[in-house]
Amino acid sequence: MSRHFLDLADAGGDAIAAMLNDAIDRKAARAGWPKGKADADAPLAGRTLAMIFEKNSTRTRVSFDMAMRQLGGTTIVMDAGSMQLGRGETIADTARVLSRFVDAIMIRTDDHAKIIEMAEHATVPVINGLTDHSHPCQIMADMLTVIEHRKALAGTRWAWLGDGNNVLHSIIEAGSLMGFEVRAGCPAGYEPSMEVLDAALKRGLTVPILRDPMAAVDGADVVVTDTWISMGQAHAEQKLAAMAPYQVNAALMAGAKPDAVFLHCLPAHRGEEATDEVLDGPNSAIWDEAENRLHAQKSVLLWCFGLLG
Ligand code: CP
Ligand code: NVA
Repeated sequence: MSRHFLDLADAGGDAIAAMLNDAIDRKAARAGWPKGKADADAPLAGRTLAMIFEKNSTRTRVSFDMAMRQLGGTTIVMDAGSMQLGRGETIADTARVLSRFVDAIMIRTDDHAKIIEMAEHATVPVINGLTDHSHPCQIMADMLTVIEHRKALAGTRWAWLGDGNNVLHSIIEAGSLMGFEVRAGCPAGYEPSMEVLDAALKRGLTVPILRDPMAAVDGADVVVTDTWISMGQAHAEQKLAAMAPYQVNAALMAGAKPDAVFLHCLPAHRGEEATDEVLDGPNSAIWDEAENRLHAQKSVLLWCFGLLG
């Protein structure tokens, strides 16, 4: 079986729950092991994942590479600029050719339409490693982190602060699939897309867009933010000024529940979207969140190969 993971809705709530449970079990089973040692069952032995990066990455690159090693498989990591893709070979032809060599493809790209095109032409699973539209693997790790820190997902209240971007889109999708609340503190002109809000609404989740950041964090179990300027976006002074009131600092965190978990997908622009006090403070779970990219993605890979869910 071969399944694409382009967005969280491709899997649905039941499969996501199965993946998160598997991630918890696998993480526990290898506690204290050397990081490069394969899991006891090595379920992806003999399989190879190709990774294509059209944008920079540290966590996605390393966590997928280590995920494949721990599952007993191997990887090929490519920057698009050094591939023929970077000289105009089409996405469709790249998908056809890579499908003859490898067992799955992960791609980080600028335009979400490209990953849809790749999935249409690949005969192996295609995984979204971030597009301008969404970042589903990140939110798998975020959900795992919230379960670890809050014991449950359903019923939690997540407050987003800042830019209505790709990461927020996947959080909204996750909330609508997994039964948690999402409140977005975003300045005018930087809201999440209507398409994403409408899809969530159809699944029963209404996401309030709040201009007052204090109202957004009120009663929050999870406070989450991200860079104000995503990869590929112009560094506009006007945008930075609009975002300034949404900075997650100690005063804003004090408006959430006292034991609220602070998340940030990283890389952080310290002193912009969040202060050091919050990033390095007692509520911060950002290093667990980063590590959980590895554990959550192992389960995503198994799901793509039909070995889970
Ligand atoms: N959070 C995340 O996707 O990090 P990288 O850009 O380093 O992969
Ligand atoms: N929103 C950010 C996430 C980086 C992991 C970006 O797209 O650059």
